[in-house]
Amino acid sequence: MSKEETKPKKRKIKTPQTVRGMRDILPEDELYWRKCYDTAQTLADQFGFSRIETPVVEHEELFVRTAGKTSDIVQKEMYNFLDKDEKTKLVLRPEFTASLCRAYITNGMFNRPQPQKLWSYGPAFRHDRPQHGRYRQFYQVDFEILGSAAPVMDAQIILMTHLFFKELGINAKVLINSIGSADDRTRYKMELIQWYRPRKKELCENCQKRLVRSPLRLLDCKEESCQEVRTEAPQILDFLGKESKKHFMAVLEYLDELEIPYHLDPYIVRGLDYYNDTVFEFVAVDAEEKAQMALCGGGRYNPLVQLLGGKETPGVGVAPGIDRAILTMKAQNVTVKPPKRPQIFVAQLGELGRRRALALFNTLREAKFTAVEAFGKKSLKAQLDIANELGIQIVLLVGQKEVLDGTVIIRDMDAGNQETVRFDAIVPEVKKKLKSMKSKK
Ligand code: HAM
Repeated sequence: MSKEETKPKKRKIKTPQTVRGMRDILPEDELYWRKCYDTAQTLADQFGFSRIETPVVEHEELFVRTAGKTSDIVQKEMYNFLDKDEKTKLVLRPEFTASLCRAYITNGMFNRPQPQKLWSYGPAFRHDRPQHGRYRQFYQVDFEILGSAAPVMDAQIILMTHLFFKELGINAKVLINSIGSADDRTRYKMELIQWYRPRKKELCENCQKRLVRSPLRLLDCKEESCQEVRTEAPQILDFLGKESKKHFMAVLEYLDELEIPYHLDPYIVRGLDYYNDTVFEFVAVDAEEKAQMALCGGGRYNPLVQLLGGKETPGVGVAPGIDRAILTMKAQNVTVKPPKRPQIFVAQLGELGRRRALALFNTLREAKFTAVEAFGKKSLKAQLDIANELGIQIVLLVGQKEVLDGTVIIRDMDAGNQETVRFDAIVPEVKKKLKSMKSKK
């Protein structure tokens, strides 16, 4: 027998990794995620939004038509692939707005009372360069109002966003601008190109390319050199037509009325082609009120539904990014309270005891108590240690003897005493015990 046959080669198994830019969200962060979702749900209920769920996979065309061919999303960030027929072009959704507008048309929602207020939540995908706060799979809450051009709708969306971050304990401010109508923008873009041309060399490589293709994007470039140049550039507010000016003034008046402080920011132009008039972003601010990162993007998009072949349907909405909201909550030391501390621990001894204990656990659940257990542990000490660690006052114990007698032991962890009660009287007994503990506190 050769050496090789006697000694099987040890093959090193490569452990699987997450895909670049994608991550696991672990149980220790669950409280934050739940807080974000619950806050969105509460606001949606209060403001009369209905939940809508659209597929994660859509036709590529949907986003090419709406985000715009020159947008970063379409140019480089889309997760696109061919379906198994090798000709249907599909994508993982990079955002929700276009999907919700598609769903509005697909499901004839224009025949329902207008406006339609819709909200959604889930993952979106962009093949961007991963970094702090930028992932290839990220999560958005999305609020959209379809079927009203009234400025009060813009204000309502901004109010909801303001309340969303406030409720999460995040220190943020809203930066707002108006990019007017398509005509206003055409005039402005021409002016901008002319203004930037002699300064082209001062721009970053990316902006030099953008100059003709999407000149508005020069304004939100993060490169220092470009930011310096833009300070002297013409501003879109000076190019707004009468209607757009009126609309914007009305939105700002609503915000004044609501006492929501805003910052006019002529450089907020948004990277998606479907917007008109109001555009805004909320940014996290640190203790010195210095802007950190964009927490959400939003604005009015009156042309979008028509771009998709639907009837003229004005719309306005916002998408807060949840990954960034949670990063900010942590950076700003926001603590999230656990929903309800468990009140009771169910302990067991022996096989018979465990079987009865599971039934007891279910009885408690039916009676709306929050109980915990450690059915994987056999030693009573180990179980009581867990109960102690969790700060639970009442332990219910079932061993072989208790099963045979049809009883349960109730142990008061603080007082260190215990009593035996009948299994079928356990719910009223626990209620009584909890009540007397509460009154002693
Ligand atoms: P957006 O500005 O592209 O707008 O994205 C909104 C928010 O999603 C961002 O402010 C950020 O918090 C989060 N986000 C975007 N990309 C990433 C990423 N790669 N990693 C982590 N978070 C990210 C929209 O998506 C529009 N649909 C907003 C809207 C709704 N406009 C009208 N209605």
